[in-house]
Amino acid sequence: MEHQITFRYKTYDNWRETSVISKEITERLESLLNTAHAPYSNYPVSSIVVLESGEMIVGTNQENAAFPSGLCAERVAVLAAKAAHPHEAIKTVYIMTGESEREPAAPCGSCRQVLHETELRQTKPFELILINKTNKALAFTGVQGLLPFSFTLPK
Ligand code: THU
Repeated sequence: MEHQITFRYKTYDNWRETSVISKEITERLESLLNTAHAPYSNYPVSSIVVLESGEMIVGTNQENAAFPSGLCAERVAVLAAKAAHPHEAIKTVYIMTGESEREPAAPCGSCRQVLHETELRQTKPFELILINKTNKALAFTGVQGLLPFSFTLPK
């Protein structure tokens, strides 16, 4: 039997000319880039998780000389959000890359796994918005499509 998977997402060639990201979120993501610790990659990333209550939890990539010991910005933000508010649903996850990058960063496989399971836990989709600081953005309503065949433990 053959199967096919499709999923929908939106792209923006100049998100700054739209209202897809509020001024407040834009400014916070931009200033957060300064708190990234990315001396090895020189690739700062910032992330904001917005909960249903409106509360915002932030994260930036935090690298380490023992390379696998660091963490991506969105995992810092999502895991901190769930630690502080385990029962509150996430509404939106924003991820911004620094100005020098032309394309928004796509979450790595480990982050997709975390995003995937976090969404399953809350049983409703959240928005994922990937942004480069200059102009381009990608928006997903629900993250299941980003990781087909994710790992789940047998029930
Ligand atoms: N990175 C993130 O923090 N989020 C992403 O979505 C993509 C990549 C980080 C990991 C590492 O610190 C640097 O960007 C790239 O090497």
